[in-house]
Amino acid sequence: DETEAQARFERLIAEDQRIEPRDWMPEAYRATLIRQVAQHAHSEIIGMQPEGAWLTRAPSLRRKAILLAKVQDEAGHGLYLYSACETLGADRADLTEKLVTGRQKYSSIFNYPTLSFADVGVIGWLVDGAAICNQVPLCRSSYGPYARAMIRICKEESFHQRQGYELLMTMMGGTEEQRAQVRDAVDRWWWPSLMMFGPPDAESPNTARSMAWRIKRHTNDELRQRFVDITVPQAEALGVSLPDPDLRWNAERGHYDHGPIDWDELSRVIRGDGPCNAERIATRRAAHRDGEWVRRAASAHAAKRAARDAV
Ligand code: 3HC
Repeated sequence: DETEAQARFERLIAEDQRIEPRDWMPEAYRATLIRQVAQHAHSEIIGMQPEGAWLTRAPSLRRKAILLAKVQDEAGHGLYLYSACETLGADRADLTEKLVTGRQKYSSIFNYPTLSFADVGVIGWLVDGAAICNQVPLCRSSYGPYARAMIRICKEESFHQRQGYELLMTMMGGTEEQRAQVRDAVDRWWWPSLMMFGPPDAESPNTARSMAWRIKRHTNDELRQRFVDITVPQAEALGVSLPDPDLRWNAERGHYDHGPIDWDELSRVIRGDGPCNAERIATRRAAHRDGEWVRRAASAHAAKRAARDAV
């Protein structure tokens, strides 16, 4: 009965075991997972737009091939995560409807414009770097399908981060104009990358419960700090300075101290008032509308195959 099922669920969580789709789970556990995994999937799909804008303008065939591979990977990450959502009983069409009508979110970071090809490198280095900090712990998330999707996603994210950093190293070794492009992109993406980890723990309504259920393994601030500690030395190796005059190593803490984050900007962007929110949703809405015939054809083909196999 339900009491036994509840006790079994709590034992599995306490023993750091996995919850699988057919296991009993509290409705609130299911709901918060659909919320987080759907928004993670939406982020991957919307995340194709900022960099996708540079596919036709990549400076060489090699850079175009790398960028094409990365953007295709993001689509795949979205599909794994929508599939993980479906194991929780969510309907993919419903999730898309919630995205395009603004009832579900996607990561704030993708509401900023990509103004030069250096942005492709900085997104790989900072945004995918931040995603790796956030996603590696999710490989140990208590919900099985989510954790397993993360393992493959993290492997591909590492390629995304390395290709971005390599592009920036190449540009920093190039002309003064290329170095200026890199510095400008770093200045525009640094603070939004820190905001990507979410609001401070004290203002995070979901963190405590997600930690108790081991959906999240670290808090927003812990992961943000880990990202800063990893990234500052990388910026030094690249020869770029980060746009934070308060950034300095704190030997006592064993971490970098950094300046205040503009939380009003994060809430504005989450609310829909970021630089590119309207464009990102309009593009996603148009893609969904224009893809209607493909979905209809695929289901007609599947139905024909099923009818043929049934005889
Ligand atoms: N952008 C948009 N919304 C955000 C946000 C952000 N950066 N940070 C927080 N929020 C929202 C939350 O969704 C929540 O709203 P909701 O309750 O309506 O969902 C609210 O702000 C309060 O935030 P909380 O900290 O309480 O929410 P969470 O506990 O869910 O933490 C999170 C937010 C850290 C983003 C967590 O959901 C998470 O770890 N998600 C999985 C990772 C993810 O989504 N990453 C997206 C990065 S993009 C990416 O990975 C693509 C890569 O290829 C670059």
